[in-house]
Amino acid sequence: MKKIAVLTSGGDAPGMNAAIRAVVRKSIYHGLEIYGIENGFQGLMNGNIRKMEIGSVGDIIQRGGTILFSARSEEFKTPEGQQRGIEQLKKHEIEGLIVIGGDGSFRGAQKLTESGFPCIGIPGTIDNDIPGTDFTIGFDTALNTIIEAIDKIRDTATSHERTYVIEVMGRDAGDLALWAGLADGAESILIPEKKDDFKAVISKLKRGHERGKKHSIIILAEGVGSGFAYGKRIQDATNLETRVTVLGHIQRGGSPTASDRVLASRLGAKAVDLLLAGNGGRVVGIQQNQLVDHDILEILDQKHAINLDMYKLSNELSI
Ligand code: F6P
Repeated sequence: MKKIAVLTSGGDAPGMNAAIRAVVRKSIYHGLEIYGIENGFQGLMNGNIRKMEIGSVGDIIQRGGTILFSARSEEFKTPEGQQRGIEQLKKHEIEGLIVIGGDGSFRGAQKLTESGFPCIGIPGTIDNDIPGTDFTIGFDTALNTIIEAIDKIRDTATSHERTYVIEVMGRDAGDLALWAGLADGAESILIPEKKDDFKAVISKLKRGHERGKKHSIIILAEGVGSGFAYGKRIQDATNLETRVTVLGHIQRGGSPTASDRVLASRLGAKAVDLLLAGNGGRVVGIQQNQLVDHDILEILDQKHAINLDMYKLSNELSI
């Protein structure tokens, strides 16, 4: 293998740049030519492909977002779109591709691998919803952004003796809500993986209020439903003054934490090693601090499992 390429796809995540840097530098270290594809699979179809040098990834390890830009491409899901992508890879004589993104991006990588272009997936998403890895790139940074925001909300919540519903990202996965809830001592955590018990949420709020608690925090993952609708239900049921904050895309930006930079560097390098060793159709990950790789089809067939012990613990600590 002499020429490989890298792209970022789907929702961006802090640490993607550190992963691009690792892929580029590890490739050059091994004497490979490395190409960057801009705008994900959409850019691949359109031929937005440029050669990367050592200096192309200088001064980016600390930056959020992705210097290669990202996209969610509907067209690449079609056989015609995939064919256009393959033609571009052939035209540039690219023999292997590294895809940094979430499960949607890995579907594209799988299609290309089936067509004879070996691809390796690197889990990059703030949602932490990829099976086969304990952590995805971006999760730790997003979590810390959420914690910082909730700490600020706590100040004003206490001053005004209010209840807050805070909606965090996570369409299908509750990891951000769960970890943020445990890290911030939330009264209740609402996640898509676990049906909420509204009566229990209300009685906990009332108990706290009677005990003289100055504020309450409820964290809701977006996959559960609207934070505003939930806030109204809470206010109607308790008569406690309730406010809602939707944190939104602020969670996807910012300088990656040290953990995310290290994870991204390790996974990026591992992906290059796998391609060089003749592998395709694999997804890299980290499990118990060991680098691992799994069959991409296996990863696409499974569902990420939430840590229900942590959910139980959070309930036990927020009595
Ligand atoms: O997949 C990451 C994610 O941030 C989800 O948590 C969220 O539901 C989604 O992306 C938002 O996507 P978009 O930026 O396209 O609105």
